[in-house]
Amino acid sequence: MAKLNDNYLKLPGSYLFSTVARKVREYQEAHPDKKVIKLSIGDVTQPLAPAIIESLHAAVDEMGKAETFRGYAPDLGYEFLRDVIAKKDYQERGCNVSADEIFVSDGAKSDAANIQEIFSLDNKIAVGDPVYPVYVDSNVMAGRTGTYDKVKETWSDVIYMPCLAENNFVPEIPKEIPDLIYLCFPNNPTGATIKKAQLQEWVDYANKVGAVIIYDAAYEAYISEEGVPHSIYECEGARTCAIELRSFSKNAGFTGVRLGFTVVPKDLKIDGTPLHGLWARRHGTKYNGAPYIIQRAGEAVYSEAGQAQLKAQVAYYMKNAKYIYNGLKEAGYTVSGGVNAPYVWLRTPGNMTSWEFFDYLLDKANVVGTPGSGFGPSGEHYFRVNAFGSYENTVEAIDRIKAL
Ligand SMILES: Cc1ncc(COP(=O)(O)O)c(C=O)c1O
Repeated sequence: MAKLNDNYLKLPGSYLFSTVARKVREYQEAHPDKKVIKLSIGDVTQPLAPAIIESLHAAVDEMGKAETFRGYAPDLGYEFLRDVIAKKDYQERGCNVSADEIFVSDGAKSDAANIQEIFSLDNKIAVGDPVYPVYVDSNVMAGRTGTYDKVKETWSDVIYMPCLAENNFVPEIPKEIPDLIYLCFPNNPTGATIKKAQLQEWVDYANKVGAVIIYDAAYEAYISEEGVPHSIYECEGARTCAIELRSFSKNAGFTGVRLGFTVVPKDLKIDGTPLHGLWARRHGTKYNGAPYIIQRAGEAVYSEAGQAQLKAQVAYYMKNAKYIYNGLKEAGYTVSGGVNAPYVWLRTPGNMTSWEFFDYLLDKANVVGTPGSGFGPSGEHYFRVNAFGSYENTVEAIDRIKAL
């Protein structure tokens, strides 16, 4: 008789965005005259840039002609895309990453969830808290996280590294030694960044204890300040301890198009075995490659026109972030993030819980954000506001909050 993977049964329901959606729906049904503004789910709203649309059209036309038609893509991605990624994202920034260390995929979520497969179940993971939920949940599904404490909302075999105002939302090296360390900067949900010297400490630590860092740089394009690393490979020694995840979702609006990549340096080895070969094997067996048309669209992200258009797109969202940050600050809230990331993280007033503040904002200002507690226990009493809406809606939402 077939048996379930009962690790799936251990997963607590991910109620965050479904509860947000239900509460908004109920509110709107009860108050049909109110205009509710949503600054909650981290999805982009601006259309694809013209350079990308042009490239998509051209690639579609190629697929309609026998001489330019393409079937299965190479497992690890087309060379035209991997070459330009290696050059523009890494070599031009002084990072030693070559095209054959890049694995093109359909996005960072799948890679973030799948990468744990190449590690033994005996590994202990460490995660920032609060955090993008995929890192923990994928390890739960694999059976690596022990038992769940419903009251504390934590897993017995996960090392949680609290990211709070006291540490500028950057985790400290934990007392217990982890085997796999998930770091995400710029961070979702806090919008925090890590300075190069701090990241170097993590790299040195991982090399010392033999841990692997899985570095999620999905929001790299939003970095505006000097001294904030765009890639972990800016740190010395990262090639022997770090895997980096990247996405085209937020820098180029590909949330519905789907494209990302993972870097596995050939120098990264466990007991002499390169992880590059294992990830290549996994990719080759379980994945048939991102579509040709989409990889061509990805290539256009790096063209001169694409770069200029996307810079403007990121600037549009960051103008929203600035308005949110300044407006909430003027309104008396304690805020952070929003400078190198499209997320502003605020401390709820009067020690309200994250959900109490959610209800308050929905009811009084008809504005929807995301309760911080949904990202982990240390997110309690915090609230995430995102900058991915239209400028007009963002201004209206913040002005309503200021008027409360
Ligand atoms: C930290 C982080 N990593 C990865 C992703 C997923 O990216 P993708 O759309 O490429 O799957 C997100 C999406 O919100 C994210 O916040």
